[in-house]
Parts: sequence; structure tokens; C-alpha cells
Amino acid sequence: MQPDSAAHRIARVAAHLSPSSLPQVRGFLGPKQLEAALTGMDLVIIPAGLPRKPGMTRDDLFNKNAGIVRSLCEGVAKCCPNAIVNLISNPVNSTVPIAAEVFKKAGTYDPKRLLGVTTLDVARANTFVAEVLGVDPKDVSVPVVGGHAGVTILPLLSQVSPPCSFTPEEIGYLTKRIQNGGTEVVEAKAGAGSATLSMAFAAAKFADACLRAMRGDAGIVECSYVESAVTELPFFATKVRLGRGGAEEVLPLGPLNDFERAGLEMAKKELMESIQKGIDFMNK
Ligand code: LAC
Repeated sequence: MQPDSAAHRIARVAAHLSPSSLPQVRGFLGPKQLEAALTGMDLVIIPAGLPRKPGMTRDDLFNKNAGIVRSLCEGVAKCCPNAIVNLISNPVNSTVPIAAEVFKKAGTYDPKRLLGVTTLDVARANTFVAEVLGVDPKDVSVPVVGGHAGVTILPLLSQVSPPCSFTPEEIGYLTKRIQNGGTEVVEAKAGAGSATLSMAFAAAKFADACLRAMRGDAGIVECSYVESAVTELPFFATKVRLGRGGAEEVLPLGPLNDFERAGLEMAKKELMESIQKGIDFMNK
């Protein structure tokens, strides 16, 4: 191993993270080590792929990231077909359908085990709503449904817990800020990529919820982008009840107000195209 090679860096990070009192950390690199990395896994978190640069939408990443997600999911189907998958790679609205097609082709698909991570949208929604209300974000819970890009990110401000109300101006501001949260970071980083720390926080929070559900903890509900019959679209993000097998129950949207119903129509239009794009990629 060259002292500065990628393999060396991975090995060094793994060694740093793996003192004997902590869970074991091992590093793997490249397609040759994919099978070794995946074999025996119960939960696989997929953040791989290119991040956005200013001016790009998440969909602009499709051409690069679609193939990456396909290869990794082929590895999952082969090496750990019963693992629960947390998919982060963008555009999530299309990569989740791609993963579903890979697993269908391999004969391993169980919709309960494929979860698109939208936790960062919820974290942003909680933060921005808490700012407006002047409370701690920890004490606020905002359901965010739809998908994970632009207008498909639909915060349900009429269902905030604890119950509260907003002026029309606040609703306009909050909805836009939540939908644009990722782009705000991409612009602030000015070419250096997209959200990393907050994405890692959200991914860890969601994975932790999955792990607690997998060991049998009850009452764990998180928003996630999953196969769904809540709308006419095959995939949609809503609250889901997590259990030993993954998304055990996809929860309904609940009552929407007129503003949210209009938002839902816009979200569905864009989502449908993104879902179809993922399915077409796998069937071309
Ligand atoms: C975001 C990216 C990581 O929402 O999708 O910031």
C-alpha cells in the first residue's frame, strides 16, 4: 500500500475509529472489495455518488449516480439480500425506484426493506419552524412528505406537533426555505459540494431509528421515501412505522389544507417523472 493511496487512507481512518471498546470499524475500497464489505450486513447505508455544485438540481446528478446506485444494489442483492437499505444518493426520487428495479430483477425485492432517507428535510423543517416559533427544534416535529427535491419536498405545516398556527407569510417563507434547504447549502459551499455534516447527522438519526426498530423497539415512526399506496404514485414519502423488517407500515397523509393540497399536486407531477426516469434507466 502506498502511504498516500486511497486504500491507505481508508485503512488509517478505520484503524482510528476502531479502538477495542467501540463497535468494530473496517475499511473497504473499490469494486473489488464490495462483496467483502457487504457480506453479512443487516443494514446498508448508501450515500455514494457525486454531490451538487451551484446551479445544479439533484436530477442533474442522475447520469453519474444512477449507475453507482445500480452497482451497489446489485452487490446488496448478491451478498446481503435480506439487509435493510437506507438510500441517500441523489436524486433520491429516482434512485429508490432504480434500487427497487435492481432487487426485482434479482428476485430479492421486499419493499419494506428499501427506504429513501428524507430525514434531513425533517431536520431542516424542525429547525426553521422552531426559529419562527422561538422554541427549541428538539421540541418540534414537522411531517415532511412527497420526495427529496425542490417542490417534491412538502412540509405539512398544518400537522406540526405540538399544534401551532402560522400566518400565510410564514407558511410561504417556511415552505420555500425547507424546499430550498439543500440548495442553500450548495450555494454557500460555492462549488465544494452539498450538505455533509447535516446529511451525516440525518443519516445517523435515521439509521439509528432503523436499528432500534430492528432489535424490536416499538413505536418508531420516521418520514421516509418508500414504496407506497398513499397516492397513485408507486413511491412516496410519508411517516412510516419501522419494525424488525423495515417499513412495516406506511402511514396516511392525514388531513391537508388547501395550500398543502395544491403543493401535493405539484409534488406528484415532478415525482412521477423522476420515478419513471429511474424505472426507464433500468429497463433500457
Ligand atoms: C441535501 C442533499 C444532500 O438535502 O440532498 O442537502
